[in-house]
Amino acid sequence: MLKVAKRGEVPPFIVMDVMRAANALAATGRDVLHLEVGQPSTPAPAGVLAAAHAALDCDRIGYTEALGILPLRERIAAYYRAEQGLALDPGRIAVTLGSSGGFLLAFLAAFEPGDKIGLASPSYPAYRNILRALGLIPVEIPAGPAERYQISVTLLQNCPLTLDGLIIASPANPTGTMLPPRELEEIALYCRQAGIRLVSDEIYHGIVYGTVESRSAAAFSDEAIIVNSFSKYYSMTGWRLGWMVLPPELVRPVECLAQNLFISAPALSQLAAIAAFDCGEELARNLARYAENRALLLEELPKAGFDRLAPADGAFYLYADIGHLTRDSAEFCRRMLAETGIATTPGIDFDPARGHATLRFSFAGATGTMAEAARRLQNWRR
Ligand SMILES: Cc1ncc(COP(=O)(O)O)c(C=O)c1O
Repeated sequence: MLKVAKRGEVPPFIVMDVMRAANALAATGRDVLHLEVGQPSTPAPAGVLAAAHAALDCDRIGYTEALGILPLRERIAAYYRAEQGLALDPGRIAVTLGSSGGFLLAFLAAFEPGDKIGLASPSYPAYRNILRALGLIPVEIPAGPAERYQISVTLLQNCPLTLDGLIIASPANPTGTMLPPRELEEIALYCRQAGIRLVSDEIYHGIVYGTVESRSAAAFSDEAIIVNSFSKYYSMTGWRLGWMVLPPELVRPVECLAQNLFISAPALSQLAAIAAFDCGEELARNLARYAENRALLLEELPKAGFDRLAPADGAFYLYADIGHLTRDSAEFCRRMLAETGIATTPGIDFDPARGHATLRFSFAGATGTMAEAARRLQNWRR
């Protein structure tokens, strides 16, 4: 038997396994409701589709420069100017294969094997799984309801290990909670003083419900790596396009890594994505739908016994404490899928230590799907 590298022994991304089980059930004719995957049910905005058609007709769709086409990098810089009042040099912006490609480049460029990277637990599972695959050490910092599931300076001060990096996300997956600007600033300052490279995942920026002001960590630190994506707010998951705002000293390392690992992000997606920033009206309609879904589930889920929900300031998730219903979230989600046809994600995907008592509902889908899910859950739990 030939060798198989340990690097590949990362745990599965459980939500993808749940999605496979849900699709298999749907193939047998069952009406399955997808509340597992964090994916908008809408296509890319019409302006993006039109730009893609036009590009197909007149562009060669070849490789691009590794950091992305200049008009897109300039448009992203203009977005920071308009939305955040920040004047960023487009030269600091790297266009990536989704934020997933961004994380890979960021971790490779900023950290050495064996470096310790802090992250909240619960958090997006790929952080720790990518870190492990790269020989970095994820340091899970438990952040519960008392901390609104977010990293704080106090948690960092109490961390027994010396960190080389820190990943934060606001709004966060799976909880949707946000860091108020003052706390974000304090974390950025703490990281600078402690020599910790801050990585701020801002993929859910734009999907916010007005409870907390939304600021980019770029406002507080030039040393932080900002990761963002067209997947969520811009409803472009399959276009595999994201971007980073890089500290100046990481631009060239990221460029060289990107040249060798990817050559470039998809040219068609880049050409089309420039238009995404001018599709505000359509994106506002998507946001209104998420807000309606959120309000519906916040009203209806407690009637089905799911009454311990994290405060979802943003994103399209509700993270439910189901400790009073089960001690085995994976089995609970399997049973829910089998008995109601509703797919959800067990908390162990996000928090291996405590996620046996939590689950995540995604409300990225259609409002009718949410209403039907609420009805089925209320019958199920009656
Ligand atoms: C918090 C967070 N970051 C990053 C990603 C990766 O997204 P993409 O690679 O499509 O940009 C996701 C996807 O669900 C996510 O929830």
